Amino acid sequence: MKTLVVYYSRSGNTKKIAEEISSKLKCEIEEIVDSKNRKGMLGWIISAIDAHSKKLTTIGEIIKDPTKYDLIVIGTPIWAALMAPAVRSYINKNKGKFKNVAFFCTCSSSGDSRAFGEMEDYIGITPISKITITTKELNKNYEAKLKNFIKGVK
Ligand SMILES: Cc1cc2nc3c(=O)[nH]c(=O)nc-3n(C[C@H](O)[C@H](O)[C@H](O)COP(=O)(O)O)c2cc1C
Repeated sequence: MKTLVVYYSRSGNTKKIAEEISSKLKCEIEEIVDSKNRKGMLGWIISAIDAHSKKLTTIGEIIKDPTKYDLIVIGTPIWAALMAPAVRSYINKNKGKFKNVAFFCTCSSSGDSRAFGEMEDYIGITPISKITITTKELNKNYEAKLKNFIKGVK
């Protein structure tokens, strides 16, 4: 199965998991870059409002064509119990180009179920596997959980 990991990360947590997934699956990876300045406290507040309003944003050029892959593994940080606007924009641009999808996210504690549910509705495909890694797990041990996810997408 030809797989691509696609992710957005504001502060590095989702990036860390994305890189681990792509390394374990020995597959390609693409980072979604958000052109909007989301740094600092003001950036945090604007980001929460944008995510809550299901706003789109301008993202950097996407190099890899999703139609060339059997599976797209999409990763997002949870913002206001939803996907980040950069991920929404990626999906919006590529709707209809996905064969199969799997989802992963990082979050402080909650909002993942709502976010995954909305991602599924937005894409119109049921993910073959999903994983949430909380900040607590990220700092401790998530190996078994990740292994299970990898098994589900192989
Ligand atoms: C604007 C904003 C909103 C957030 N909303 C939530 C939330 O609803 N639930 C939650 O558990 N964590 C929330 N978080 C925490 C992030 O999901 C968490 O820190 C994540 O691991 C960050 O990923 P990143 O380092 O890849 O950007 C929010 C963070 C930001 C910046």
